[in-house]
Amino acid sequence: MAEFGTITASDRALVKSAIEASTFAHAPWSQFKVGAAAKFGRKVVKGCNVEFDVYGLTNCAERTAIFAAYACGAARQPLTAIAIVTDTPTPASPCGACRQVMFECGGGDLRVILSNMRGDIRVARMRDLLPGGFELAPLEKRAASSKRKNA
Ligand code: THU
Repeated sequence: MAEFGTITASDRALVKSAIEASTFAHAPWSQFKVGAAAKFGRKVVKGCNVEFDVYGLTNCAERTAIFAAYACGAARQPLTAIAIVTDTPTPASPCGACRQVMFECGGGDLRVILSNMRGDIRVARMRDLLPGGFELAPLEKRAASSKRKNA
């Protein structure tokens, strides 16, 4: 995986929030706990994975955080970074569905910080995780139109 940039204090703070979020993971089936922390403007919104008896209804931590950001209004500010934490020997890589949602929300420059519980951190750029992601309309256009609608 292509990596970029050095790991900043802000990356580490976001990882800490994602670790906190992982403590709320509801993973009775996989026992695989995931935490995410997404930075929208100055706000950090947390998410965890949530599993159900009907497995297909499971929601990943990354999407839980992003959906929560829409629900609380934080997503009116741009998404600039997201940290994802798993209890694995090396940082895990986000699933395809989450890559698409993160790409649509944060664009190709989104900073994706992958970490395990020990704090081994890798930083990737969204466009490297999802080259050629689907876009109905470019991000800037959508942000402008959503600002108009919310005005
Ligand atoms: N999971 C996430 O939360 N994020 C990912 O990017 C991949 C997988 C969750 C879904 C499920 O609850 C568990 O990890 C095992 O797949």
